[in-house]
Amino acid sequence: MIDQIDLFAAAGAAEAAAGNFDVEAIPTSGSVPIPPGIYSDLDTLTRHCNNCQRCGLAAGRTNVVVSRGNPQAPIMIVGEGPGQQEDEQGLPFVGKSGQLLEKILAAVRLDTEQDVYICNVVKCRPPNNRTPVADETAACKGYLLEQIRLVDPKIILLTGATAMKGLTGEKRGITKIRGQWIEWEGRLCMPILHPAYLLRNPSRDKGSPKWLMWQDIQTVKAKLDEIKAAQ
Ligand code: URA
Repeated sequence: MIDQIDLFAAAGAAEAAAGNFDVEAIPTSGSVPIPPGIYSDLDTLTRHCNNCQRCGLAAGRTNVVVSRGNPQAPIMIVGEGPGQQEDEQGLPFVGKSGQLLEKILAAVRLDTEQDVYICNVVKCRPPNNRTPVADETAACKGYLLEQIRLVDPKIILLTGATAMKGLTGEKRGITKIRGQWIEWEGRLCMPILHPAYLLRNPSRDKGSPKWLMWQDIQTVKAKLDEIKAAQ
């Protein structure tokens, strides 16, 4: 039996790497950080998330929503947090926003099973789909950072202001910064509009959210092709 704090000390890391750690030893306080490098693989991380009680969102969840897509994908898409359908199915972006996201990706011939790995800033559904609060994103951030390290994507797409702020701390409005490449921790990232925002703004006119997304996703596809050509 590992005690709570030891899970995240060196001995705990060895246990985690061996895949036989005691899930009851996950620190229940979100303020105890998850150290970088603690997870040897995504299955261990997922098992840990499924047992997580690091913040209040755990009490209201049906399922923990960790990821879907290809763990070796060149593109990682980070959303805000699960909605009702995601909570019920245990998979990110499977509701209306997810269906639109699929269409956007398909428009530039990106395949969700092949080309992308999809996850969220918080892994449990906030009540009534409210925006996750700072304590919740902080408690969950170590999982996201570990997902990024283990998937090691070439490009990270941050959908909406919460994803952008949750990962990078950037507080500027998403409409100001969307479509611009940024470097975060040596990684190529682009903030893009959240699909739910597009659903609320159906216009396809020049300058509309849908039009802007079309520009951005083409830029992303072109960058991916360039990266692949250089490999
Ligand atoms: N919105 C998100 O940000 N993530 C999901 O998984 C679903 C909707």
